[in-house]
Amino acid sequence: MKRLFVTGGTGFIGKTFVPLALEAGYQVRVLTRNARSLASWERAGVLPVVGDLLSPGPWQEEAAASEWVVHLAQPLTFGSRVTRKRAEAYRDQRLRMDSMLLESLKPGVARRVLYVGGTSYYGDQGPQLVTEDTTPRPSGWGPFIAPAIESLAGYRARGLPLVEAYPGSVYGPGSWFQEYALNPLKKGERLFGIKGTETRRISPIHVEDCARALLHLLEHGEPGKRYFVVDDEPVPFSELLRVAAESLGVSYKATRLPRWLCHLMLGPVVTDSLTVEARLSNARLHCTGFQFRYPTIREGVPAVVKQRAR
Ligand SMILES: NC(=O)c1ccc[n+]([C@@H]2O[C@H](COP(=O)([O-])OP(=O)(O)OC[C@H]3O[C@@H](n4cnc5c(N)ncnc54)[C@H](OP(=O)(O)O)[C@@H]3O)[C@@H](O)[C@H]2O)c1
Repeated sequence: MKRLFVTGGTGFIGKTFVPLALEAGYQVRVLTRNARSLASWERAGVLPVVGDLLSPGPWQEEAAASEWVVHLAQPLTFGSRVTRKRAEAYRDQRLRMDSMLLESLKPGVARRVLYVGGTSYYGDQGPQLVTEDTTPRPSGWGPFIAPAIESLAGYRARGLPLVEAYPGSVYGPGSWFQEYALNPLKKGERLFGIKGTETRRISPIHVEDCARALLHLLEHGEPGKRYFVVDDEPVPFSELLRVAAESLGVSYKATRLPRWLCHLMLGPVVTDSLTVEARLSNARLHCTGFQFRYPTIREGVPAVVKQRAR
């Protein structure tokens, strides 16, 4: 049986990824700081590994003995205003978590290590179509994940078979899409945006396709390569919200706030994230033979709404 070690398996993307990996025949070990979060999965065959990526422990032997590794864990990002100080703490923790894991792995044992990054590393690229080879211009969270991403070259040089996957804006039942789009829309509340960003495009991906693509890349991604994990069509953020409202059968009302006010309310990091334009190409992912279930938000968003209604 193929032995797979997953970090971040209890997170938003991980919760969809782990059942798919089990279904695909992997023997899945999930690292968590809290064993209770895995109680229901244990019955399904997931082996919990209790440990913290910020502290050495027996989890490192479990990781080192695994032929397949998927690294989804990240420090907390969600829930409150992100100040520069908080983002710097994220940066430092992310770097430590990554190095603690990657230092534990053995090039001779690991067959593939899937590292999950973030497209904010590429930053604001304007209206051009961006590929994995475009020069990154980190913005938003980008400057705070850049040191971790840029440290990967050292691990590749050591012979670790790293495949890098960079999901775009992952929407699904949960996380930011639930909290900032579906929940307020259902309550008839107005959604907030930033003035002047009406036409900026993001590159979305349904969480199920994101998890399927990660599994696909674990098997078919080329070590040393980076892949954007985004659907076929970058869309204006307001279009994503409009399709969500339409799928819920409610009206979409938006209030546009000036940038300085968002800066005050959400902090500089989130404000920058909400203003970048990122039209990312999925041509490289397509070339691996990956097939989307939800090629655009027009298929994906109604499916999320239907799932929530069940
Ligand atoms: N969600 C998105 O829209 C999106 C978009 C692009 C890229 N990404 C990237 O995709 C990855 C997964 O994102 P996500 O949104 O699914 O994550 P998430 O929901 O924020 O989950 C974070 C995960 O990290 C684990 N974790 C945090 N600190 C840890 C530590 N010290 N030791 C061990 N585990 C720790 C948590 O596990 P426990 O609490 O169980 O310990 C949890 O499973 C991240 O690298 C993120 O940057 C996400």
